[in-house]
Amino acid sequence: MAQRYVISGAKVATLADDANGYDLREGAAIVVLGDKIAWVGPESDLPSEYAGLESHDHAGRLITPSLIDCHTHIVHGGNRAQEFALRLTGASYEEIARAGGGIVSTVAATRGASADELLASALPRVDALIAQGVGTVEIKSGYGLDTETELKMLRVARTLGQARPIRVMTSFLGAHAVPAGAEADAYIDDVCLPTLEAAHAEGLVDAVDGFCEGIAFDAAQIARVFDRARALGLPVKLHAEQLSHIGGTALAAEYGALSADHVEYATEADAAALAKAGTVAVLLPGAFYTVHETQAPPVQAFRDHGVAMAVGTDWNPGSSPLGSLLLAMNMACTLFRMTPAEALAGTTRNAARALGLTDSGVIAAGMRADLAIWDVSDPAELSYGIGINPLHHRIFEGTI
Ligand code: NIG
Ligand code: FE
Repeated sequence: MAQRYVISGAKVATLADDANGYDLREGAAIVVLGDKIAWVGPESDLPSEYAGLESHDHAGRLITPSLIDCHTHIVHGGNRAQEFALRLTGASYEEIARAGGGIVSTVAATRGASADELLASALPRVDALIAQGVGTVEIKSGYGLDTETELKMLRVARTLGQARPIRVMTSFLGAHAVPAGAEADAYIDDVCLPTLEAAHAEGLVDAVDGFCEGIAFDAAQIARVFDRARALGLPVKLHAEQLSHIGGTALAAEYGALSADHVEYATEADAAALAKAGTVAVLLPGAFYTVHETQAPPVQAFRDHGVAMAVGTDWNPGSSPLGSLLLAMNMACTLFRMTPAEALAGTTRNAARALGLTDSGVIAAGMRADLAIWDVSDPAELSYGIGINPLHHRIFEGTI
């Protein structure tokens, strides 16, 4: 039988109002019917039709939408602890990539792993996110760079969403790196585009991503991938302006991308273009921190132009072995000077937008009943703690 209950007594950060920070409401009640939120408002105004429902009192706790990690690479083989050690002796992320390490070394490990092995290594990563109140996670391919392995990664990502109470959104990232021995244009035409077609035909692709960078693909090459995505009716997003400025952000805006991610080197003009296109800027402080980046993304320009900002872990074995979205929020505040309210909007409302989702990320009637209940009294505590997890429990599709 479908669940029907009232959550009462809590402080609720609805995140529903763009202009109003947390939109914090004291003494609020939330009515859950089935997998949806049916009503939210002051406890004293609870409609009489819900008065007899089972009630869960959460006085002293905070309720937010479940968190959304809108940028991860958690399906992959192996790890790159050796590169971490190398970077500490002075080698840069870019130098390691050009010397045959980096993404292509994870490609070898991912090709060599079976689907079962990839699933077994990804499950604890998903569990770690769930334990922090995450209800939706985006997972990218991009460590296959051949048809067989890209499809294998995407199937494993879909399986994760069946094996655990979490929603998985997939992104096809065939244009992540040029495989060893290949030429970039030929790789796009002969491997990447046909693989996208095959993955889409199997229903494995929710969005199409790329890496626009000197060590990966230029804007013209990414545009060819985006053209195919458009022909297939798929939304796009892009790793843009992470290590240098080569025009990825403008391209993302031109294609009406859901998001432009990293964007450390984005300019004021890029911010204006993102705002005009309604493209979300996804900030990834774990990668900034790990690769010893010194240029922070232009947060003030994003604010000035009204660009929505999201925050993700970018959990991957190279540039961001970061398994905590709460820590990503803390880092976004301390390293990028986002406010705690911006960080929470960045892992709820704006993260939903970065994935094209209109049914979650805020607490309002009609939304999915994906909620996180925290043992904190002030929502800023979620960003303030370092390595602290105050989750009391999570509600996923109405189930506690
Ligand atoms: O988001 N920038 C490109 N892709 C990943 C890095 C992946 C890797 O280093 O394995 C990122 O940082
Ligand atoms: Fe990434």
